[in-house]
Amino acid sequence: MYNNRSSKNLRVLRSLLTSPLLCLAMALLVALAAAGGCARITKGPFLLRASQNRAALMWETDSEGLGKVSYGTNRQLKNHIVVEPERVEYQIRENDKTPHKKTAFIYKTWLTNLKPGRLYYYRITRPDTQSKTYTFRTLPADTDEVVFAVYGDCRTYPHRHRKIVEQIIKKKVDFVVISGDLVEDGEIYQQWQQQFFQPLKGLAESVPVYAVKGNHDLSDQNYFEKLLVPPRQTANFAFDYGLVHFYCADNYVGTETQILNLIAADISASTSTWKFVSYHEPTINFGGHWSDWGYPDAMPAFAEAGVDFVITGHSHQYERFRPIAPPPGTNGSYVTYITSAGGGAPLYDVESTSYHAKAKQIHHFCLFHIKGNKLTMDTIDINGRIVDHLEINKTDGRLNKEYLQTAVSLEEVQLYRDAHSEQ
Ligand SMILES: [Fe+2]
Repeated sequence: MYNNRSSKNLRVLRSLLTSPLLCLAMALLVALAAAGGCARITKGPFLLRASQNRAALMWETDSEGLGKVSYGTNRQLKNHIVVEPERVEYQIRENDKTPHKKTAFIYKTWLTNLKPGRLYYYRITRPDTQSKTYTFRTLPADTDEVVFAVYGDCRTYPHRHRKIVEQIIKKKVDFVVISGDLVEDGEIYQQWQQQFFQPLKGLAESVPVYAVKGNHDLSDQNYFEKLLVPPRQTANFAFDYGLVHFYCADNYVGTETQILNLIAADISASTSTWKFVSYHEPTINFGGHWSDWGYPDAMPAFAEAGVDFVITGHSHQYERFRPIAPPPGTNGSYVTYITSAGGGAPLYDVESTSYHAKAKQIHHFCLFHIKGNKLTMDTIDINGRIVDHLEINKTDGRLNKEYLQTAVSLEEVQLYRDAHSEQ
């Protein structure tokens, strides 16, 4: 009896072991064990771009293999895109041990043929892992209202960057622009996670974050481009949202003249009511670095092109200049220059002058609310307090008289800069 049962058990076990299904499962387990377990999503998902009919996503895993985005206008996620990763090898030092090599796999893709003004659900999947379901919204076909945040220099102290992000999350923004210096040392791959991607969790999955390249973001391995520039784009790019047009420029590719020409051509061609430019190193900045990228050619060129706001980073402070008038005898725009470089990095002294509307050494972000011809900006500190406020409007393309009456002449600002920056 015992022998009969024992041989029966043996037969069941043998048939199980030779079953194709079990063999497949075991092979999968062995492969996973060899690869170090299930893939983990180690960065993102991160919304790089969003327009009316397409959006760009990135994410990173720690093991090789095709990735998939499943997405749709409801939770059924009927659309799918398979994405091949780019392999990145980097050095890592953990707990003072000898540095060793690690490998990451970066996935970037465009979701296309989207419908304007719709909520999209999406999920990242692999055979062995999947993300939560996230949402984002495509731009409406026709809107005259937008809320967005701009800040810069979020490098070095991630807990401060996180506090800024927590304030921005409360404001329910449509997009974010970061004016560069995302990490302290762009060559150290770990910093991209610690100082940039991690603090932006809970925001960048659903709201497009447009990153401008800073000097600290440069690396021989082009990590900025690998992580943050969508397929078939560069770090010089433009986008629109309702009545707003934005041009984000890369200070570090090409000559200053070439980049200024790109910006001027783009802005001149835009018919938007409100035109913004962002790049990393300010053209006019009192205190800190006394930066002068593109100086002095940029300022008359921006006025001639019709720029409204130039928002930069690099000099770790907040300064908003009074509107700077176009050169005498020309019909250009009155440009407002803002240095917004208080996203977390150590702060620098700012030299407050009569040319400033506001200048302060403070961690902060700028929150814009545009509705038609009216623009409101609140500059908000790390604890949620408003430290600067601006309200302007346009009629037939011209800024309101009260604001223009506060303008300073371009020549005067330049004279002051030339006299003081060398001291
Ligand atoms: Fe910088």
